[in-house]
Amino acid sequence: MTRSDLRDALSVTRSDFPSDFQFAVATSAYQIEGHAHGGAGPTHWDAFARVPGKVDRGEDGALACDHFHRWAEDLDLIAEAGFDAYRFSTSWARIMPDGRQLNEAGLDFYDRLVDGMLERGIKPMATLYHWELPQALSERGGWTSREIPERFAEFSARVARRLGDRLWSTAPVNEPWCVAWLSHFHGYHAPGLADLTAAARAMHHVGLAHGLSIQALRAEGVPNLGAACNMEYALPATDRDADRQAADIYDGIYNRWFVGGMVKGIYPEDIVDGLSDHLPDGWQNDLKIISEPIDWMGINYYTCKRIARANAPWPAYTEREGPLPKTDMGWEICPDGLDWLIRRTVTDYTGDLPLFITENGMANADQVAVPDLARIDYLDRHLERMKTMVEDGIPLKGYTIWSLLDNYEWTLGYDKRFGLVHVDFDDYTRTPKASYHAVQRALAA
Ligand code: NOJ
Repeated sequence: MTRSDLRDALSVTRSDFPSDFQFAVATSAYQIEGHAHGGAGPTHWDAFARVPGKVDRGEDGALACDHFHRWAEDLDLIAEAGFDAYRFSTSWARIMPDGRQLNEAGLDFYDRLVDGMLERGIKPMATLYHWELPQALSERGGWTSREIPERFAEFSARVARRLGDRLWSTAPVNEPWCVAWLSHFHGYHAPGLADLTAAARAMHHVGLAHGLSIQALRAEGVPNLGAACNMEYALPATDRDADRQAADIYDGIYNRWFVGGMVKGIYPEDIVDGLSDHLPDGWQNDLKIISEPIDWMGINYYTCKRIARANAPWPAYTEREGPLPKTDMGWEICPDGLDWLIRRTVTDYTGDLPLFITENGMANADQVAVPDLARIDYLDRHLERMKTMVEDGIPLKGYTIWSLLDNYEWTLGYDKRFGLVHVDFDDYTRTPKASYHAVQRALAA
């Protein structure tokens, strides 16, 4: 698809990296577990999926990949591939069905899962929130309310007390931009709002939740705390000044807001200018908590975007189609963006702080009988950049592939396949793809 010489092997292998460089694979709770099982409470994604037109075919995470029952088989797949670590998430609504009262059975599930990882020699990389907010908390204002960060810190402490002694690393919130902006400004994810005030409040409260959670985890003695921020390489659609300015704003909201707040305790001025009338009163006083020290920064990277000025109120940007080959998501394959964003992040924000790529991967229209050579090529192109950056002294310490399994791709339902392992959603059969075998060989080399 992307090169005429597509191969069934990776050219970059484990031996190209320092011996302590960590290879991992990622999933998230709602996308794989089967939320209907085990006494989990309703979430705002269940409600969102029921709103006509919001999610393709109205699909939700009720059954997903049935990982709730098949977790041991899935951990075997991770171990057999040779991964060092597994990035998974805990479902708040499974552990606290109404967001406040504990359901011990929910914690039991993750207890078994973490032990299962350790028994197989896999390091547990936990993410505490990967997007399924308990519906009861959504009804109390969700991320627009200051109550949610406080509840989230309580949830974090509960998880810490039960699992904290065995977690290799912990990040509070997956992809804060998606939790806040994609969901409250673009309305593309639950709760589906398109409201600048709601979005501004969420942009602040998600950071506050991160900081309060880090404090709670540290107080419980949990080691190796970090974050998982997504970044997109924002390119102006043309050379026009207006498009350059629009791309800067896109970059500020998407890439600079969270890393600036979390690492330096400073929000970018150009974005504060646009949001200041909408941020909660006294937001400046929270920046110290938001920038609670972390031990590493994680970056999820998939693509670049071509940004143009829109004839609309601030932030006044729109996306244009770009020229590069695209994945099944319609996302351009753009390893240049990984390189550019990492180097900028190190120079402007993180310095010597260890960095992890906490997600990278592609959707491909996979069928069991057809080798997914395009995915192997995608991973290889990004790994080549990782190798060069490590050689250049960038403190990159690990690389995580999204995802182990084909799974619930949110608004796009089960149609978009990101897995190294194919899932048949009728009978849940797992079939490792060519990319799984290519990664397995590269990790053994
Ligand atoms: C980022 C998210 O963390 C994950 O939930 C999603 O499935 C992938 N990107 C692919 O869109």
